[in-house]
Amino acid sequence: RKSTMSVSPAFVVGPVRARTFGSFVEHLGRCVYTGIYEPEHRSADADGFRGDVMELVKELGVTTVRYPGGNFVSGYAWEDGIGPRAERPVRVDLAWHSTEPNWVGVDEFMRWCARVDVEPMMAVNLGTRGMTEAVNLLEYCNLPRGTDLSDRRRKNGAEEPYRVKLWCLGNEMDGPWQTGHKTPQEYARIATETARAMRRMYPDVELVACGSSNSSMKTFGAWEHAVLEEAYEHVDYISAHEYYFEENGDLASFLASAEKMDRFIRSVVATADAVRAAGKHEKRINVSFDEWNVWYQKATPSVPPSGDDFPIAPALLEDQYSVADAVVVGNLLVTLLKHTDRVHAASQAQLVNAIAPIMTEPANKGGRAWKQTIFHPFALTAEHAKGQVLQVAVESPTHETKQFGEVRTVDGVATHEPATGQVVVFVVNRSVGERVALDVDLTAFPSLAIAEALTMSSDDPYWKATAEDSHSVVPTPNESIALAAGHVTGELAAVSWTMIRLT
Ligand code: AHR
Repeated sequence: RKSTMSVSPAFVVGPVRARTFGSFVEHLGRCVYTGIYEPEHRSADADGFRGDVMELVKELGVTTVRYPGGNFVSGYAWEDGIGPRAERPVRVDLAWHSTEPNWVGVDEFMRWCARVDVEPMMAVNLGTRGMTEAVNLLEYCNLPRGTDLSDRRRKNGAEEPYRVKLWCLGNEMDGPWQTGHKTPQEYARIATETARAMRRMYPDVELVACGSSNSSMKTFGAWEHAVLEEAYEHVDYISAHEYYFEENGDLASFLASAEKMDRFIRSVVATADAVRAAGKHEKRINVSFDEWNVWYQKATPSVPPSGDDFPIAPALLEDQYSVADAVVVGNLLVTLLKHTDRVHAASQAQLVNAIAPIMTEPANKGGRAWKQTIFHPFALTAEHAKGQVLQVAVESPTHETKQFGEVRTVDGVATHEPATGQVVVFVVNRSVGERVALDVDLTAFPSLAIAEALTMSSDDPYWKATAEDSHSVVPTPNESIALAAGHVTGELAAVSWTMIRLT
């Protein structure tokens, strides 16, 4: 069967946004400790940050990093993580039933961000805490000098303010698992008042109100509506979170997970726009899709320890990703790009060890770091999607899925950078077993040549990278891809992700 795509520079969805390629570092499992931070590691710098991980983070092309949670933030006192390490308290983390030693706090995180050249995206605790502590953290981070907390930051070694722009007003406050979970009305109140106070201190902040924890929440839709009815004028974004996984051996539905993300985004945008219309608001609220990934939530040890066991940095959520997972991640990125007009920020959750593209061994267990399969589509998309996102007309064969009914077998998007002329096509074949012929009409772009055509696929879609072998399946040149008379043609293997770059 055959799929055709028509690409034209005339149909622009919006700019490719750097913030689409954000990630997330939570004090969860081994994301921070033995992930980004491990002073005992052979590659650690003077601050204890692992050099091998920093190299991989740069290669991944991550642009923003959300911190410090996640569920963790809803019980976190940020003051515990500043000042001399020896004086920092050791606390219980209720979210992940762990011990938080507070070896890493806001100052270390900001130093790490500077070192890997990413923009920090901070979350404030609106679970066990509120407006005062949020404003205090903002003062500590963003005011230059001359106040108690800004001077404390300077005393702690950061003369210049961090000037953090992006702030999340709490995390997943709709979820009953959240410490300090709230009704929509309770959350709307605290988010609105916190936003108002934060803007009084630092008008340039960009604020994200919590949307739903996933699109299956009973309150989904009603939650966004209630929150925005009150908070609309005070925030800039509404968040969306969702994780995707294969259930009951239904690979076909899993491969079509991007359908679910697409519907979710459309619904959030529609809800925000309905509130805009009814409230006669001028501005638009955009989406921050600040938690997304594949996550096998029903697998162990996704569950925290219990009883008296409160370990430091237990191995939690250490999903090993397959080629099929990488294809889904590639398709989710295609979907985020397709919605670049309304999705203005996104964070893959998370960065290291916990549901992450980068894995590490602790120093005392070998200390290796390696790339998971999902690393590759992320890194290539972040590196090469530049300029504008184009709306692509895709004609594709379809197939049936249990979860989403009839879906297009092939899905894709294209980007165009007018300054360099580069066009990049990102395309996935979501069929479990069938190759598809591809024909991309690029006649609207005369004088292009193929610079690179890479495909990620495997005869075994369940192949997973390990510390021993993370290289056997990576994106490799797709020799079938050719350009003639303005058409790119070639073959897309079943369960595959492909990037075709033309300059
Ligand atoms: O990313 C893992 C967890 O998933 C986060 O802590 C939480 O926000 C979400 O439920």
